[in-house]
Amino acid sequence: MLRFRQGGSQFAIAILVFNAVALYYLYASNSPNQTSSWFSKDGDSLVHQSDQALLAQQIATVTATVTPAAITTVLVTPKARTETVTKLTTLTVTAVLSTTATTTVTQTQTVDLTPRPLPSPERSGPGFCDICGPLDVYCRQYGSRSYEGSNTRFRRVLRKALAGDPIKIGILGGSVTKGHGLTNHAHNWTVKLFQLLQELLPMSQIEVVNGAVPATGSDYYSMCFGEHIPDDVDIVIIELGVNDQRIESNAVSYEWLLRGLLDLPKRPAILNIQVMALEFDTITLGGDLHTPIAGFYDTPVLNLRDMLLPHILKNVPLDEHYFYVYPNDARVDFRHVSVHGHTIMAELITAYTQRQLCAIEEEKTRPNKFISEDGKLPNPDEMEDVPRLRLFESYNRTKVTGKLVPSCQSVRTDKHPLVPIETNGWKLWVYEGNKEKPYLMADKPGDYAVFEVEEPFFELLIDKYNRVATITDKAPPGKHNLTCEILPETTDPDGGHQFRLVAIDAA
Ligand SMILES: *[C@@H]1O[C@H](CO)[C@@H](O)[C@H](O)[C@H]1NC(C)=O
Ligand SMILES: *[C@@H]1O[C@H](CO)[C@@H](O)[C@H](O)[C@H]1NC(C)=O
Ligand SMILES: *[C@@H]1O[C@H](CO)[C@@H](O)[C@H](O)[C@H]1NC(C)=O
Repeated sequence: MLRFRQGGSQFAIAILVFNAVALYYLYASNSPNQTSSWFSKDGDSLVHQSDQALLAQQIATVTATVTPAAITTVLVTPKARTETVTKLTTLTVTAVLSTTATTTVTQTQTVDLTPRPLPSPERSGPGFCDICGPLDVYCRQYGSRSYEGSNTRFRRVLRKALAGDPIKIGILGGSVTKGHGLTNHAHNWTVKLFQLLQELLPMSQIEVVNGAVPATGSDYYSMCFGEHIPDDVDIVIIELGVNDQRIESNAVSYEWLLRGLLDLPKRPAILNIQVMALEFDTITLGGDLHTPIAGFYDTPVLNLRDMLLPHILKNVPLDEHYFYVYPNDARVDFRHVSVHGHTIMAELITAYTQRQLCAIEEEKTRPNKFISEDGKLPNPDEMEDVPRLRLFESYNRTKVTGKLVPSCQSVRTDKHPLVPIETNGWKLWVYEGNKEKPYLMADKPGDYAVFEVEEPFFELLIDKYNRVATITDKAPPGKHNLTCEILPETTDPDGGHQFRLVAIDAA
């Protein structure tokens, strides 16, 4: 059972609590010592009607405010409850909830109670198996088919939120995260996630910054993430499994991205949420190259595809359910999951968060941190560290790979827009009907643009699929002018000369 501090206004809580008074009596006994719990006659359906994420918070609130005291005592003390309440089939409860100093709200509910044993500790299997308990509906629905790791950073952030501090979440992703495939942008998974997390952590003020940029991947973000999320994020959620495609160089960039993010000032917790897309040559995509890297950096991976696709393959019409269908011609957009996919993404992350909250709660009563006496195994205090070598380099006993502090100028940001100091022919250009994918474009030989760049190492991000060209890694530190000019030669079979620039970055 989670305990939460009361947060938000009293009045708001009182309203939330109304529907949950009955549930409180059913579940309030969920203490670590319990051996049984209470369910209504229709059991699980009652739970499903209610918002699971809200429940724990409501329970905590009612615990403090329900009267008469006698009933509270009977129900809250596990032993007394077992003796008294097992004889009841119907229980009428009056809850008086203080809202403000001047308002009192009274609510009466009648519920039928039937005892049902909890799966623990009498459940089958050893005692360490008590997962997916009665309130954890997401766990029962989705399971956890993902890499999760030690979760050290994430739990640190959650502890901060539980103590009432605000937390800031930055999101990096492609068009799915930007909301393509949705007709109502309130269905955006980032919006849903914000709602679910705020309900789960009412004592903390949560801010979500959606830095998604359509048609971009790790190449772009590894250097330009700072253009799209603030530096002082506590959590970063990455959705780049589709856009990175199965291209090794994107995995290299993804590793740089992780390192850059992990080194941000607040040492944020990173979470990967992989979606699926079925429009490419293979079902495996860039996310599958991320996973081992994510593991090395101890950043959890949640995977919509692994959870859902085997089921869709067996029940083919579901593909139209989980992907966007164009309203005019009923074509299925197998790049962009539908509102149903978005919902599950938000719920998978919420489920993960709930598991971490449970682990934090359990640590209070059962501190079980492993300490390596002889230092031959990692200790808890080093779990947040960034490894000194990258996976994409050779082993070296002394080398310490430096911190990546990238700078970026991009046509897709307002912070440092890509603007030439001098130009002839290059201009801002967008696809017809897609204003979210702007480029700096030139198409005639002799067109040139000069950019001022300060740093020793340049990259140029060209074209819509994030092809990156490294201009030099030998320039001395300081200011440089970079000139891009269209040459008369072309490799385009149609003789075209068009080039499109997205960003110039340096580190
Ligand atoms: C949801 O999607 C829309 C685009 O369709 C995007 O503009 C918006 O920023 C997203 N909202 C949030 C809060 O993430
Ligand atoms: C290891 O790294 C150090 C410092 O970066 C370098 O001087 C040395 O040549 C490297 N050793 C090998 C075997 O590559
Ligand atoms: C870059 O070009 C501008 C004007 O074209 C010039 O004023 C500036 O000194 C140049 N900077 C460098 C580092 O060459």
